[in-house]
Amino acid sequence: PAPPGIPHYLTHADLSAKEIYNLLTLAIQHKHNVKYLNKSSGAPLAGKTLAIMFSKRSTRTRVATESAVAYLGGQPMFLGSQDIQLGVNESLLDTSKVVSSMVDGIMARVGSHSDIETLAKYSTVPVINALSDKYHPTQILADLMTLHEIYVSQPSSPSSYVAHQTHPSKTLPGLRVAWVGDGNNILHSMLATFPKLGVHLNVATPRGYEPSEEIVRYAQTEAGKTNTELKFSFDPKDAVKDADVIVTDTWISMGQESEKAQRIKDFTGYRVTSQMAKEGGAKSDWKFLHCLPRKQEEVSDEVFYSPRSFVFQEAENRKWTILAVIDALLVKKGF
Ligand code: CP
Repeated sequence: PAPPGIPHYLTHADLSAKEIYNLLTLAIQHKHNVKYLNKSSGAPLAGKTLAIMFSKRSTRTRVATESAVAYLGGQPMFLGSQDIQLGVNESLLDTSKVVSSMVDGIMARVGSHSDIETLAKYSTVPVINALSDKYHPTQILADLMTLHEIYVSQPSSPSSYVAHQTHPSKTLPGLRVAWVGDGNNILHSMLATFPKLGVHLNVATPRGYEPSEEIVRYAQTEAGKTNTELKFSFDPKDAVKDADVIVTDTWISMGQESEKAQRIKDFTGYRVTSQMAKEGGAKSDWKFLHCLPRKQEEVSDEVFYSPRSFVFQEAENRKWTILAVIDALLVKKGF
């Protein structure tokens, strides 16, 4: 097993609210430094390597990670499923011991969450979860950063970057997010994160697509400590009631392509549209987020490309939040 004391980033269930806020403030500071002050990082990762072991496709996470490591002066080493023996021909235990003996950190996109737990268990360097079937924590950091930017910038000056001037603990608690969609890894990550921060969450999933009971129980316990509301329904219009933000994701995640016809049938009524939000009683100025890639089924163009939609800012913020996670783990050596 790995030596004790190596920090990994697998799920926000392992982090405190303070540690999550630390990552957010670091991400916000990096964005300010790079985009608005044109500051260099000082190359704290010079001579160091991050192995990026992905068993599935990726646009945002891969580009964010490679560009973040380059900004910090390190070497990103992308290793796709055709390149290395990631659970094929060699055990994950052996792969983890071998790869971690030669690099300074591992970012891994896996199928089963137990795979990333195995990598972390036997790695001698920090392991970052770039998506598993259970959690997608870096995505939720980007979502929270985007919400902070939206709400801190209103109504003063959306064109200037003022997000770094206010702590996200001032903007995020009390927001009400509605999740309308599959009980997938994005919802699981929201459940593992939002209650700790006081962000209310209304959930609607079709019957048969509910989130994991274990993660719901964890979220309910955390919500009890922070007086945060968690609501679960099978009706999207219940979920969007009083929502500040509506979030959805594809109904057909990677690996579920053969279930497409059944899923489209089962998700009838779950498409996010202006009419659905209005009929359900979302706040008049509700915002829209989606982790991307987006399909036509789950959200109408009139929402996706509207001023309510912050999906491309959210995608860009994958870079700043992943940069913060790498900085925290590989440079600062903790959260
Ligand atoms: N949102 C997200 O993880 O995108 P990619 O799969 O393109 O990395």
